[in-house]
Amino acid sequence: MQPDSDYLRSVALGFRLSQVLVVFAELKVADVLDGRQVPIGELSEKVGADRLSLLRIMRVARSLGLVEEVADEVFALTARGQLLRPDVDGTVYPRVRSVGESWQWSSWGRLLQTVVTGRSAFETEHGMNSFDYFDRAPEAGETMMNRVTDEARQRGAAIAQIYDFTPVRCLVDVGGGRGAVLAEVLSRVAGLRGILLDLPYAVAGAEDLMVRHGVADRSEIVAGDFRGELPAGGDLYLLSAVLHSWTDDDSVELLRRCFTRCDRVIVLDEVIDPADAPLTAQLKDLQLMVFSGGRHRGLPEYRQLFERAGGTLVRHTPVGKQEQLMEVHREGSRWP
Ligand SMILES: C[S@@+](CC[C@H](N)C(=O)[O-])C[C@H]1O[C@@H](n2cnc3c(N)ncnc32)[C@H](O)[C@@H]1O
Repeated sequence: MQPDSDYLRSVALGFRLSQVLVVFAELKVADVLDGRQVPIGELSEKVGADRLSLLRIMRVARSLGLVEEVADEVFALTARGQLLRPDVDGTVYPRVRSVGESWQWSSWGRLLQTVVTGRSAFETEHGMNSFDYFDRAPEAGETMMNRVTDEARQRGAAIAQIYDFTPVRCLVDVGGGRGAVLAEVLSRVAGLRGILLDLPYAVAGAEDLMVRHGVADRSEIVAGDFRGELPAGGDLYLLSAVLHSWTDDDSVELLRRCFTRCDRVIVLDEVIDPADAPLTAQLKDLQLMVFSGGRHRGLPEYRQLFERAGGTLVRHTPVGKQEQLMEVHREGSRWP
């Protein structure tokens, strides 16, 4: 068994491995190697890197199982390395690229400060939350949207499968990103119309996405801020992967704003017993702490939020391993 000191050292030095993955992804090494055996000279020329420096990266990549060295200084991609190509099923390329962003490193570098002050490191450094920052730095915003769009597609397909949209005429997707969730739902539910609301950086690619899904004629895209008035006209409002980024008070305000527009809200989010969550969920919770002051919540905490906003949780259905779709009705409303 690995001695405790070795284990702690490898955890502490994990950032070096993160950076190797980032470099491998940024240089698109996997694309050049796809289906070929490539000598280091050709590889470094194609990706635009210093030959010897890249060779040292490739040797670490070999140790990580991303490539094989089929002959001296000649490399081929493995099945694991394939996952660093942008356009393959199950790709981790957008995730790895977003890990490389400087705002990730500078905020995580202030984790201690966050823990001591209880204030999000990102907000302390930039004077705004990460979404407002993405809106002012569209390149960072695009990387972020590329990362979340694949997960969003899966969420949309799952919502369409488990939720009965029969009585719904118009779904408003609040904080709906580029619209992947809404597009997946609309393409599966005939006749349903949808309104997408998100900040301008997020909805920048939404029109194309709706066209690609064949639902442009049933969707409206609104570039706006959900801290203000929400678009009218919906008979169901959706908050998918939104509330986890906000404090309790902000979440209650947002839910109240939804209830000013309609009697029913569906919330899709992680529902986790914070005292007994797996390590991956605990680390995502820290990510929320560092970047937005949000957090993972358990079902009792969600119930409390809904009640404070004047709503009642009427049902909740698991979606995948950690997420649940929660249906909330405004108190005193006519829904069963
Ligand atoms: C984690 S993403 C979830 C996106 C999408 N709902 C999904 O399920 O994939 C959170 C979204 O909330 C949006 N958002 C954050 N603050 C916002 C605001 N003030 N007004 C509108 N949208 C906002 C972000 O831009 C982002 O697209």
